[in-house]
Order: sequence, then structure tokens, then C-alpha cells
Amino acid sequence: MARKPSAGGGGRESGAGADGSTGDPPLPPYPSTLGHPLTHTVGAMRDVFGFRNRAMAERDFVRIKLLGPGDVYHLGHPDYFERVLLSGRDEFRKSDDFRIAFDGGLVAVEGDAWRRQRETLQPLFARDRLLGHGDEMVAQVRRRCRRWEPGTRIDLAAETSQLSLDVLFATLFGRELAIDGDAEIRTAADRLQHWFAPTSYPLPHWVPTPARRRFQRGKERLRNVADRLLDAAATDPPADPSAADDLLSLLVALRESGVAADGALSDDRLRDQVVTMIFAGHDTTSTAIAFAFYALATHPDVRERFHAEVDALDGPPTVEDLDDLNVTRRVVTETLRLYPPVYTIPREAATDVILDGYRIPEGAATWLTVDQVHRDPRFYDDPAAFRPGRWDTGLRERLPDFAYAPFGGGPRRCIGRQFALIEAKLALATVGREYHLARPGDAGSDPPLLGEMTARMEPGTEFVVEAR
Ligand code: HEM
Repeated sequence: MARKPSAGGGGRESGAGADGSTGDPPLPPYPSTLGHPLTHTVGAMRDVFGFRNRAMAERDFVRIKLLGPGDVYHLGHPDYFERVLLSGRDEFRKSDDFRIAFDGGLVAVEGDAWRRQRETLQPLFARDRLLGHGDEMVAQVRRRCRRWEPGTRIDLAAETSQLSLDVLFATLFGRELAIDGDAEIRTAADRLQHWFAPTSYPLPHWVPTPARRRFQRGKERLRNVADRLLDAAATDPPADPSAADDLLSLLVALRESGVAADGALSDDRLRDQVVTMIFAGHDTTSTAIAFAFYALATHPDVRERFHAEVDALDGPPTVEDLDDLNVTRRVVTETLRLYPPVYTIPREAATDVILDGYRIPEGAATWLTVDQVHRDPRFYDDPAAFRPGRWDTGLRERLPDFAYAPFGGGPRRCIGRQFALIEAKLALATVGREYHLARPGDAGSDPPLLGEMTARMEPGTEFVVEAR
């Protein structure tokens, strides 16, 4: 496969200067497709996705100038993903934004604290354990979609967002949310995204934009919620952490057994795990489910095959059906390719890094552009088309490593990957047996994308509920 040039033409040896001298390697150039670097911030704030497409149209490795983070190094090739996430992972670290959003939660911490946390939490995400949540997932989906009146319109992003919170709480947290209540949790969970709003993200951290104020309020509330959930779970803690069957009882058991005195799992960090899981586990999955319905609504041929598959089930789906739901699985796989909820995986250079003959200075923001790789014609035929059938023919095996990375990669790959995939497949099949969600009017128009930490569906995007 031909490779787009790296930043300045490719083929350069590491350490060589732009003029072939052996001094410090040059920084990658700003893209010629974007105009003067001083206009980059405005371009990114105005239309984050169009801006990225233009920025990376000609090269896999470019530098963008943003007012807040400064020069941001964009990497859009699977080989770069491999370097940053796997072979060269010690040259990179998580950025301040992770710590601002998640404090000491699993997604933000590094080194031994991360290893210890990951080891402790991993058993909750073992596939067998997750399959045990299948019936509860389906029950939560049915509870919510039974409220949809055929013929009425729903705000799909809002519905799937609530749905994935319902599922997360009923399974991982062992506590059912009130379907019309628990407003504090529901509102606060939604607000963490605002830290990453494109209208403020390119600005320096100290600028108190409205989105950042919403984020701060949401985070405070969510921390209070997490404290209350932990206190409530503490009334009947399992004596042994390994006997805990949900996140809250595991965390409480760690606290009670004294294990949590360890810095990696101090009281504050237990709370941070709750906030992290609520945030990392709900918007991502809800976005995937929303875009899968968008794609089904706008692709009648795929929808027909999907409906035939789910109609053939004896009743509502169960985890035993998962292996046979081939169309549904490919719809989810293709949705995560075309609309990856985590469209950027951010890191920061922990040292001066030399990549393809160019330098990323220590401390510089380094972003892996998942959306760009997922739509790259070198890896995917007709990449802008939603074609679940492309996964029928061994594409997965033919793709280079990291060319499909909706869940990241390397040791920091998403801990909730299986959880999300099981939930998404069961949710699609459950809804799809009873309803078709139709996109009114503008079926041919662009998907309604909003770029924050996840590439979400624009709030207020309406779908008409049709009974099947
Ligand atoms: C479609 C749904 C999901 C997508 C697309 C997604 C995506 C990702 C990605 C790309 C990463 C890597 C971030 C990085 O390397 O910086 C990640 C990490 C993580 N995800 Fe997910 N995720 C999803 C669902 C979930 C769920 C359901 C949970 C929990 C219930 C979850 C919890 C986490 C956590 C805790 C991490 C940090 C793991 C670590 O650093 O060890 N995610 N996710």
C-alpha cells in the first residue's frame, strides 16, 4: 500500500535535518491546506472534522497551531499508532486533560498506579462476567424503549445516552436508576464532555468559557454522586474483594479490607474510578448505538438484512444469540469504523521524539487521529460508505495492525471494550425487533456530528419511532 508522505516528503532518516545536516531534526511543517497557522484555532473551533480532513489531506504527520495546547502533532497512520501505543509507549504520556477530567481514575493514571488499578478492575470486565449481565442489559433496553410512542419523534442521542447510563448502573454498579428520576446523576454525567467542547478546547485552560464552567459543575456533582454511591454500597460490603460482583462493592471491599490504603487505590482514587467509569462507559457506547441506528435508517438494504436477522430470533435477544447475530455484529463494527466515538487518542511527548526524521518536542501534544485512519482509502475501499459487508471477507485479517482502532491499542486499550460490544449488539437487536427508527426528511444529508471528547450525535437530532 502506498503511504502518504510523512510531514515533509517522507523517506528521511531519523536524526537528519531538513537539509540533510545532522543537527536537530526539524519540526514537521504546518499543512499547506490550512492557510496561515494563526488561523488554525478559528478553523478548529468552527468545524473540527472538516478542519482535520483538510489538515491531513496530504500528509500523515502534521503540526497544527492551537492557541491553548500550542503546536499539536497529528499522527494519522497505523504505524504511528503502533509506535505511540505500543512499541514506543514510554516516550509518551497522558496529557493534563485526562487528569483534569478524571483525576486519579484508570484512564488518567500512569506507571505502577495504573498497573495496580488495571489489575484490580480487570476481573469485572472478564467476558464471562459480562455475559452474566446480558439479560439485565436487555431488560434495561426494553424498559426504556417501551416508552416510545409509535409515530412520535425522539431525540436519539438523548435517549441512547440515558439508555447507556441505565445499563451501566444496572450492571456494573448494581443499582437501577429511576427511569424518570436520578436527574442529578444524569445531568452531571453529560457535562464532563464539555471540557472538550471545540468552542473552548483550542483556547488556553485558564479561559473560563461557558462550556468549561458547565464541565466544572458537572464534575463536582459527579464526585458527590460517587461519594454517595460508595457510602450506600458500604452498608453491606463483601468481606473479600474477589467476591464482589459489581464495581461499587469491589471498591468498597477494597476500602474496608485496607487494600485501598495503597496509594494507587486511595479513597479519592476509588471515587475517581466511579466518575471515570460513568464518563468513559456511557457516552462512548451511547454514541455507537445512536450512529448504528442512524446508519440503519439511512441504508435500507442493510436494514432489511438486519431486520431479517433479528426477526428470526425466538424472542428478545440473549447472550446465547450473540455469536449468530452476524449482520448486527458487522453493523456495530462498521459503525465504530465510520463514526469512532473516540476520534482522537491524545498523548503528550514525554521526551523529544524523533519520528520519520521529524521531531516532536518534549511536552508537545500528540494526537492519534482515529477518524482519519478509519477513512483512509489505503486501508478501506470506498471508505466514506457505510458497508457492513466489507467485514465479511476477511478484511480484519488483511488490515495492518492499528488500522482499526476504535478502542485504542496496546496495554491501555479500552477495558470496557467487551462490555460496549455486548451492550451495543443486544441493544440494536432488542430495539430492532420492535421498532424502526426513521430519519425524517433529510436522509441523504451529512451525519449530525458534534466533536467533543467523543464525536457525538448532535443533541436534538430527531428520529421517528415506527412500530414494526
Ligand atoms: C463504544 C464504546 C467505547 C469506545 C469507543 C471506547 C474507547 C476507548 C479508547 C479509545 C480508549 C483508550 C484511550 C487511550 O488510550 O488514551 C479507552 C479506554 C478506556 N475505556 Fe473505553 N470505550 C468504550 C466503552 C467503554 C466502557 C463501556 C467502559 C467502562 C464501562 C470504558 C472504560 C474505559 C476505561 C476505564 C479506559 C482506560 C483504560 C486504561 O487506561 O487502562 N470504555 N476507551
